[in-house]
Parts: sequence; C-alpha cells; structure tokens
Amino acid sequence: MHIIKRFIDLKRLLDDKQRRSPNQIVGFVPTMGALHEGHISLIKESCTDCDMSICSIFVNPTQFGESNDLEKYPKPIEKDIELLIDIGCDVLFLPTVEEVYPPSYTQQNFDLIGLDIVFEGKSRVGHFQGVCNVIYRFFDQIKPHRAYFGQKDFQQTVVVKKLVNITSLNTKICVVPIKREPNGLAMSSRNVRLSDNGRKKAAFINESLRLIKNNFREIGLSKSIDLAKKHILKYDNAKLDYLVVAETDTLKGVETYENKKLVALTAVNYEGVRLLDNIILT
Ligand code: PAJ
Repeated sequence: MHIIKRFIDLKRLLDDKQRRSPNQIVGFVPTMGALHEGHISLIKESCTDCDMSICSIFVNPTQFGESNDLEKYPKPIEKDIELLIDIGCDVLFLPTVEEVYPPSYTQQNFDLIGLDIVFEGKSRVGHFQGVCNVIYRFFDQIKPHRAYFGQKDFQQTVVVKKLVNITSLNTKICVVPIKREPNGLAMSSRNVRLSDNGRKKAAFINESLRLIKNNFREIGLSKSIDLAKKHILKYDNAKLDYLVVAETDTLKGVETYENKKLVALTAVNYEGVRLLDNIILT
C-alpha cells in the first residue's frame, strides 16, 4: 500500500497508473481514522467496485466546534495502517493540516439550501460547512470517480450529494449500510468512550428507531415517535438531542408518510458521548 502525504504525489501516482492502464475507476473513502468495521465496509465496497481505492485519514479541524472533541479524537495510526494493508487498500492518503488548508486557503461557504443547519447542523453549528470544505478540497484535487460514505451519518450523505450537485464535481456518491455491534449499536469511533456497561445498554438507541419502523403504519408517525422518545428517556444518563422523521432527500420533517421516502434520525448524548443512528422507514 502506498502511503502518500501530498496532493501532488497522489496526483502523480494516479496519472502514472492511468497512463499505464487507461480508464481505471478510482474509488475514494474519506475518513478521520480510528478505523472500525464500519469504515472497513466502505473500503471493501470501493475495492469491489473500483480498480484502485484510496482511503484518506485526516482529522478535519474545520468540522469541529468549540468543544475539545478535536483534541480527544483517537489517532491509532499504526493499527489503521495494518487494517488497510490487510484489506488490500491501494493508497492511504495522510495529509497534514497545512497540506489540506495552506495559508492561502480561504474557507468556502456553500449554499446547501438549509440542509446543513438542521438536526446535526443545529447542534454543531458550522459542522457541515467544515465537512464540505474538506470534501470539496479532496474531490477537486483527487477527482475520484466514486466516493463512499456511510449511511450511519445519513445527513452527511445528503449534504455531500448536494455539494456535488451544486459544484462541478463529477464524483458519484455511494452510500453503504450501517455496520452495527451485535446488540444493534451503530459502530462509531466514539463508542470507545462509553463504559462497558454503557456500551451494552446503548442498544436502546437502535431499539427506539425500530419501534418507529415497526409501529408507524399502524399508529401513525407522531405516536410512534412518542413511543421511541419514551423508550430513550427510560435510560438514566441519556439526553435526547433530536428524534425526527424526515424525507430522505430533502430532510424536511413530515407529518404523514404516504408516497414519501422517509428516514428516522436521532442523536442521543449518553454518558456524555454523542451517538447518532438512523433507520430507513419507506
Ligand atoms: P468518520 O467519522 O471517520 O467516518 C468516515 C466514514 O465512515 C463516513 O462516511 C461514515 O459515515 C462512515 N461510517 C462511520 N461509522 C460507520 C458505520 N457504523 N457503518 C457504516 N459506515 C460508517 O465522517 C467522517 O469521518 C468525516 O466527516 C469525513 C467524511 C471524513 C470528512 O472529514
């Protein structure tokens, strides 16, 4: 596996490969490292679909707010490299902050028609603009044919699709299903911050979403959302940030479900850890 730290070297490698065997499909999986099975499933999908797969590890400072989440972010790089070699990833792109954001770089403000200021964006102001800045920078430099994102961060997939749509980027966004722990908890780099007991109990988040999925046709959306909220609030140390049902492509909240493609989305702070989950309803 090539480990590359600069865009110029990555572009040279890609040009070289294309010259030797033209029309190669390049797949890209952006991550912030601390890789787990969720990330790995994205890279595997890229390796299956594409001739060459690039994974980036970059803890993007512009998507973190005031909190000390950025400093607390785990950075087990040696372990990550081993995992990537094991699954046959072709390239690890490991840039520095200066490489991604040189002094001449000015942060862009993308018009995401409000997709960036609801739900996660409401609680983490500026987060999705930060995500879009780094993704735009990567896509613009690397020009991958396909890029892989997890359904786990559902709103991020909608925002990135919008970004590609409003810019001249030519990358197809592929969404990969959520990988879960055996008890249903969505895998996340943040799960290591839960206590052992908390990690077991945190199954209640996915349970609450399944309550909606299993009941909304019979009792309606609003009552099924109430059921789910009650389930979450049974747990001490659980603070519900949001639990909503929205249209999958516009993220508009809905009252009725007829003829719409819907997703239930939630964020819960549990033992001080922000945990996200979602479930497709229709
Ligand atoms: P990160 O949290 O490292 O996640 C990288 C990718 O892995 C994202 O597309 C995320 O949705 C996916 N992922 C995380 N947990 C998953 C799970 N349990 N199942 C399936 N996929 C999962 O998301 C980011 O980094 C950053 O915002 C980034 C896109 C890299 C931009 O900085």
